[in-house]
Amino acid sequence: QGITESFAAAIHALNSAQLTDGVIKRSKRMIVDTLGVGLIGTRTDVFNKALTYSQLFNSKEKSSIWGNSDMSLPAHYAAFVNGIAVHSMDFDDTWHPATHPSGAVLPALLALAEAMPRKPSGLELLLAFNVGIEVQGRLLRFSREAQNIPEFHPPSVVGVMGSAAASAKLLGLSALQCSHALSVAASSAGAPLANTATQTKPLHIGNATRRGLEAAQLVQLGLKGNPDILDIDCGFGIYYRDYNPSVMPGCDDSGFEWTLEKQDVAFKRIPAHLGMHWVADAALAARAKMEEVRSFEPREIIRLTLRVPPSKYINCPLPTSQHQARHSFQFNACSALLDNKVTVDSFNQMQINRKDLKELLSKVIIETPADNKPSFENMYSEVELETNDGQHYAAKCNTFYGHWRKPLSQEDLIQKFKSNASAVLTSEGVEGIIDVIENLEN
Ligand SMILES: *[C@@H]1O[C@H](CO)[C@@H](O)[C@H](O)[C@H]1NC(C)=O
Ligand SMILES: *[C@@H]1O[C@H](CO)[C@@H](O)[C@H](O)[C@H]1NC(C)=O
Repeated sequence: QGITESFAAAIHALNSAQLTDGVIKRSKRMIVDTLGVGLIGTRTDVFNKALTYSQLFNSKEKSSIWGNSDMSLPAHYAAFVNGIAVHSMDFDDTWHPATHPSGAVLPALLALAEAMPRKPSGLELLLAFNVGIEVQGRLLRFSREAQNIPEFHPPSVVGVMGSAAASAKLLGLSALQCSHALSVAASSAGAPLANTATQTKPLHIGNATRRGLEAAQLVQLGLKGNPDILDIDCGFGIYYRDYNPSVMPGCDDSGFEWTLEKQDVAFKRIPAHLGMHWVADAALAARAKMEEVRSFEPREIIRLTLRVPPSKYINCPLPTSQHQARHSFQFNACSALLDNKVTVDSFNQMQINRKDLKELLSKVIIETPADNKPSFENMYSEVELETNDGQHYAAKCNTFYGHWRKPLSQEDLIQKFKSNASAVLTSEGVEGIIDVIENLEN
């Protein structure tokens, strides 16, 4: 059996009786978190640019734009802007090996569900969501490179495939059509990591969710690609230097196990790259150590050493935009120290431009110890403050709260959703969404 064929057969055949309590629980947490960060993301500049651009296009069938009840767009454009909203603040979930799984899938599914003549049930939606997550999880295990930092931004590679699989599932495409959907989507994959820390990075998620949806819709209209796309090196294999695919077991195969069951996702507490969570927590702990013996006075700090993993794109000594700030170990450590917290507001331009922040940033030294690997599974952060009287205050974070090893409590997850979504929706709207997702399978 070919690899693509096995994936297509599994996508086609997976059924809701196979959804376990574990994946239902985890995937609902992912859905509610994605909606919350997407809703608050509809108040960002990058979202508004994408929305204005997308409104240039018109069609009869319309899907909702999150946080804008008076507007609607064709499904693929609704998916595009809603996907951008989800990743606009880098606030959406992160998996291991690294990708942002939900943002590539949920906007496509919700846009598609609205546009379908026969409305799918909540259970069908939940199944399609999990199919889209599963395909990403499997593909991420086909390369060792994907374990660390690959050449392309992962959501633009595996995300578009997950979106295609989920959309194909919701549309009820045949197994052969599922192969073609994967194949069409593979031709829309791949965005360079160099656009990290710019306003373009959120577009990778918007594009991935949109292109996967379009792939499934095009295939439904009869479009065909190479149905062996996952099997061949010059197919999906071009995105990795060490591509080594394996088949996906089918649902009548007792060997089928959801990847989400084995590997949970991380939910973010601050709207920044996941790596920032370690350094922010270590900085808060170092400040607390200093405060055990004296008051925290930034002027007395002469040196601030950050021991972090080596990384080109999250090492940004003097960020000037919110997008750079969301990808700067230095900025997140200094904000945590100065304010004793990192929040949505920490990334406002006024906060970024603060004189005392720039002063503290100038005292930062980055060290990259050999044992600190650039992987969300293994990395750590250590923050050491040195004061003008020769004292040292150091703290280390191995696992931040929200990481899959230390999952966010359901209460804190819902609290994050509530505070973010209520920036956009009425309290009835906020409670309504919580209720619907709580009972999604019914
Ligand atoms: C989206 O991705 C496609 C390739 O998949 C590319 O041609 C297009 O320019 C991208 N659009 C945006 C807005 O990023
Ligand atoms: C969004 O949620 C985060 C995490 O709970 C919180 O820090 C932030 O204040 C919320 N945003 C708003 C605008 O309330």
